[in-house]
Amino acid sequence: MSARLSQETILVIDDNPTNLEVLYNALSISGYDVLVEMDGSSGLAQAHNYPPDLILLDVMMPGIDGFETCRQLQENPATCKIPIIFMTALADTVDKVKGLHLGAVDYITKPFQKEEVLARIQTQLKLRRLSLELEQQKQELERTVELRTAELTRTIQELKATQLQLIQSEKLSTVGQLVAGIAHEINNPVGFLNGNLEQAYLAIQDLIDYIRLYHEIYPAQGTEIEEKAQEIEIDYLLEDLPKMLLSMQVGVERICSISNSLRTFSRADVDTKVFANIHEGLESTLMILQHRLKAQKDRPEIQVIKNYGEIPKVECYLGQLNQVFMNILANAIDALEEGSEGRGYQELEKNPNQILVQTSLKNEREVMIRISDNGVGIGQGIKDRIFDHLFTTKPVGKGTGLGLTIARQIIVEKHEGTLEFISDSNRGTTFAITLPVS
Ligand SMILES: Nc1ncnc2c1ncn2[C@@H]1O[C@H](COP(=O)(O)OP(=O)(O)O)[C@@H](O)[C@H]1O
Ligand SMILES: [Mg+2]
Repeated sequence: MSARLSQETILVIDDNPTNLEVLYNALSISGYDVLVEMDGSSGLAQAHNYPPDLILLDVMMPGIDGFETCRQLQENPATCKIPIIFMTALADTVDKVKGLHLGAVDYITKPFQKEEVLARIQTQLKLRRLSLELEQQKQELERTVELRTAELTRTIQELKATQLQLIQSEKLSTVGQLVAGIAHEINNPVGFLNGNLEQAYLAIQDLIDYIRLYHEIYPAQGTEIEEKAQEIEIDYLLEDLPKMLLSMQVGVERICSISNSLRTFSRADVDTKVFANIHEGLESTLMILQHRLKAQKDRPEIQVIKNYGEIPKVECYLGQLNQVFMNILANAIDALEEGSEGRGYQELEKNPNQILVQTSLKNEREVMIRISDNGVGIGQGIKDRIFDHLFTTKPVGKGTGLGLTIARQIIVEKHEGTLEFISDSNRGTTFAITLPVS
């Protein structure tokens, strides 16, 4: 029988020597290790020092009775899992129920029926073996789950780090420190030009006045001087020269504003968010994309319509937001170019390519930025994939499939905002960003 396979130990606690002897003999013959104690306290000590596999416990004993012994066994973590079978001479069901309530697994009544006692003991020991096995399996399972969870956590952390690196490298490749450096370097010579142009303008005005005065007082008619004046068309020249200088000044001012835009766009990101003007970010990004918006040989200029609302400064990493604007605007331009293919220049002039940039206050706490295009739109079949890492419909070398992944990470994770879109293959696409003001 299964009980014989392993040497299982049974502790019998009973004050009646006859009972003890009967049980001892019956159990020993059946192959169990039997320990006996004659009162509650010794039984508790024994069970604590050498936990048996099962306890047979008499109810009526002098000193600590069976119920109290049972309660104390249940209380002690070292013994609480040992199955207890009560032995009772009382046919009283109330006592049996009390024993079961206290945590006993079964009861047997005296005088003993040997077969019945053995059968009940075997059943309980089997249950115990099974529950121990179960417990062990549960622990193994928990360990495995813990290990897997740790592995997963590590993987997620690695992924996050990789994504951050991607953001960093994408950022460097879109604009980069190069741009910031160039903008910085341009600043000095441009300032120099600007200052000197103003001086030159004044100086030339003086010079012109002087020449006119000289000519008035010494007309020098019929001389080489007059010949030369005619040759160089002196009147026209004197009139034109200040205009030339003014237009140079306009040019220099434009360089200044481009250089400022470049610096705004590639503003080195500080560790903390700062309150920034979203419109400045949008403007600098559009300025940088100017070359892509301009007319090309196969299509007219892309119209940019701005509809800026009154919005407060937003607490953000403006450099990163600019990167988002850049990615979305570049996608819009791509979509417009794709939609322009095969349509004639004239057709396109009649129905021009447009990008609409809108800002508004969504509510007291959030601003909304919408960028719309009337390009090809996003096909129904790929709508739930466009934010996926590396998903692109563009040819190799043109698309990376990172733009929107990064945009979403910056908006949702870094700024706790939202990034959504609606798209219709006939009418184009709108991306909507909401950002908490702070
Ligand atoms: N404005 C848009 N109009 C049409 N399709 C778009 C638009 N913006 C994004 N998409 C689609 O989403 C895809 C993923 O965009 P993105 O993550 O920026 O990667 P990439 O631009 O490198 O392809 C694009 O390949 C394109 O199919
Ligand atoms: Mg893109």
